[in-house]
Formats: sequence, C-alpha cells, structure tokens
Amino acid sequence: MADHSSAASPLRSRKVRGLKGRIRVPGDKSMSHRALMFGAVAVGETVISGLLEAEDVINTARAMAALGATVRADGSGVWRVNGVGVGGLQSPDEPLDFGNSGTGVRLAMGLMATNPITALCIGDASLSKRPMNRVMTPLALFGTRFEASEGGRLPLTLHGAREAVPVTYVTPVASAQVKSAVLLAGLNAPGTTTVIERVATRDHTEKMLTAFGADLMVEDREDGRHISLTGQRELVAQHIDVPGDPSSAAFPLVAALITEGSEVVVENIMLNPTRTGLFLTLKEMGADLTIENRRLAGGEEVGDIRARSSHLRGIRVPASRSAAMIDEYPILSVAAAFAEGTTRMEGLEELRVKESDRLAAVVEGLQVNGVPCMAGPDWLEVTGGGAPGGGEVLTHMDHRIAMSFLIMGMASRFATAVDDGRFIATSFPGFLELMNGLGGLMGADRARVKA
Ligand code: S3P
Repeated sequence: MADHSSAASPLRSRKVRGLKGRIRVPGDKSMSHRALMFGAVAVGETVISGLLEAEDVINTARAMAALGATVRADGSGVWRVNGVGVGGLQSPDEPLDFGNSGTGVRLAMGLMATNPITALCIGDASLSKRPMNRVMTPLALFGTRFEASEGGRLPLTLHGAREAVPVTYVTPVASAQVKSAVLLAGLNAPGTTTVIERVATRDHTEKMLTAFGADLMVEDREDGRHISLTGQRELVAQHIDVPGDPSSAAFPLVAALITEGSEVVVENIMLNPTRTGLFLTLKEMGADLTIENRRLAGGEEVGDIRARSSHLRGIRVPASRSAAMIDEYPILSVAAAFAEGTTRMEGLEELRVKESDRLAAVVEGLQVNGVPCMAGPDWLEVTGGGAPGGGEVLTHMDHRIAMSFLIMGMASRFATAVDDGRFIATSFPGFLELMNGLGGLMGADRARVKA
C-alpha cells in the first residue's frame, strides 16, 4: 500500500500513438465497499471475488473487522466475510481510519448508526475537509448522536442509537452515499425506513441489499423515487462477483479516443445505467465506442467496451445526467480538450465536495496545460482543439485528477506532469503499468518520460 507519510511522487506522461490491447480494470469501488459492509452484518460467510484491492476498500475491510466481522483474503483475490448479523456490531477498540474515502466513512456511519456502539471515525487530510453533516443530519433522526469537529467534519465520534426509530427522509442532495447511509441505518430500526430521492443516483445499495435478502421496495412516484426498507430482518450471506469499475475503465477508453491510431478493449465493465453517463456523452461527442458481449453478472449488466481513435465534437452535457457520471467529469474535461468546439457541462455543484474541489482542480489543470476554459459555481466550459500540455497539475490528494491529467499527456504536444501520484492507489492499483502496457509512456523515470 502507498505510504502517504512518505514524500510526494511526481509523475509525467508524454505523447504516444497507437495504443493497443485488451485489458481488464480493477473491480467496481462502489460494489466492493458494499459487499464488505453487507457481508459484515449478514449471517454466514459472504464470498467476494473481483473485490477492488485498493486503499479505500482495504480501509473498509479493516473497519468491518474492527467492528467484529471476520474478514479474510485468501490470496487468490477471493475475500471471505463472516458477518455478525443485523444489530451485532461491536464498539471498535481503535479509531476507524477511512483514509481518503467518503463512501467508506459515510456508508459505515449509516451501518453503525443503529447499533448500540461508540466509534471514532478518522480520515486523511482530504477526507477531513469533506462535509459529514449530510449524513449526520438524517442519522440523528434515528436517535444516533455525534460529536464532530468544527463544520461537521472528521474526526467524529458516533454513538449508535440504543432504541432506534425508523425514519422517512427526503435527500436534499443527489447523493448515493446519503441515500445508502439512511437505508443502512434502517436495517436495525424497527418498522419501515423510507428514502425519497428526487434525482436517481447509483442504486447498488438497493440491488445488493435485495440480493442479501433485505425487505426493500422501490417505487417511482411524482415526487421522486421512494425506497422503503423494513428493518430488523436478518441478511443472508451471498456470493458476490464484482465486475470492473466503469469509472476506472473511463481512463484507458478516453486515452484510446484521443490518441491517434489506437484501438483498446476493456473487458468486463459494469454497465449499470446509473453509472454509464460518460459513455453516452462520449458517443454524443462522436466517439467510436462499441459495447460487445453484453451479459448479466452478479445482478448487474456487464459488457466489454471497444474504443478507437475518434474525432470528437463539443456538446452540452445536461445537468440531468450528472448523477450518472459524477466521478467522470475530470476525464470528460480531458476528452473535451481534444474535441472540436466547446463542451459545456452543467449541474456540477457536487464536484466541489469530492476528494478535492474537483471543479477548481480541473480548471487549474486545464489552464496550466494551455486549454481555454471557463467555470461558474456549478458549470464548466472547455474549448477544445487539442491541449498544448507542458504543465504540472496539482492533484490535491485526488486520484481522479492525477489519472485524468496523465491521460491528457498521452495526447498533448508537450508532456504533462502531476505533483503527486500516490493517491491513484486509493482506487486504481496498477494504473501506470496498465496504461504503459497499452503503449503509454508515463512514470517517474525522467529518462523515459522526458518531453
Ligand atoms: C458513491 C457515490 C458518489 C460517488 C462516489 C461513490 C457510492 O458520491 O462520487 O465515488 O459508492 O455511493 P455521492 O454520494 O457523494 O454523490
């Protein structure tokens, strides 16, 4: 695992052409967190294959073990979780360290909220800046108490409700993490907990909890999607096969689109429609992307995506699509830099509270590489035509900023650099090797990557 107390690891990436190969990317991050957490409160042994073995998810695995579940990796990529049953979590002896992961801490807060335990939650400098009120507010309705740092941040101590009451909550922000935290708290509340979301966000919690045997109903009504869960039912251990993460697949696919003479296939990508907004957007921009071998695996749609070098055109990306591609705006902005004309993206307010202020980080990264752009509080316009490159991008402890601007360097005139590549390990171990295996020239080796 990367040691974040060590010195920053600057990386460079230079222009290449002719990327070729068939690859797989690591398992889906959202599903990996959930498989570990739901396994931790199920009865019996949950067996997970394809788990994303990256820092964010390993921190969740450690937290589940500290809460009383038995979590083992057998070395061949298969993880086994023996759960404690709904309501059976124990107070951890040590602080739960969620590292860089908002999903890890917010979902775990929900999972713990209705267990009579006390837990101290901590994270790294990036996570400690992110808002936790969005989950503490609804969790307090169950009877959970919190002592948080100023502004509702980490470190925070959670005191789980001893006699929880069920809750009905309309989520004020489009957030699968908030929705999931409330549903997970509902698991050990008597009666029915309902979340109403006006904008549909990723639905892995609903799908996977149903597979674990939860009593969950989803209904689309005029005021939004109502998700109701009846609590205090046991969950039954499952076999979960985690497909490849579409948010990770986005990097090699965009690399193939923007470099000349390239053709890359990424196999076994999860294609849940609440996650595929980027692929739709790229196709509207004229991308030569084809989905092959569509199938169902582990309750999710899965397929292989082929990308060939393409002449992209700027488009307007509507706010209504932002939930389905919320993590993909940094890499879309890189694609937009190589498109003809201007790409306008709207509905980006949530980018401000990710691992970094991603809207600001993208603008800085584009500008330092000579790409004209303009941004407002929740929108971004990128004028394409190709990136000159040559700039060093500050990653602000954000894995997707680091990867996006390394991809930019594969097609820009001069090499791009990022100040710190260590955070790539939070979501995409092996990123550099995989990209270099396709024909990329990225790394810390100055002789190899000199512009
Ligand atoms: C996630 C939800 C999204 C996303 C994050 C993963 C999840 O966050 O950005 O990477 O697994 O539920 P929000 O719920 O804050 O939108």
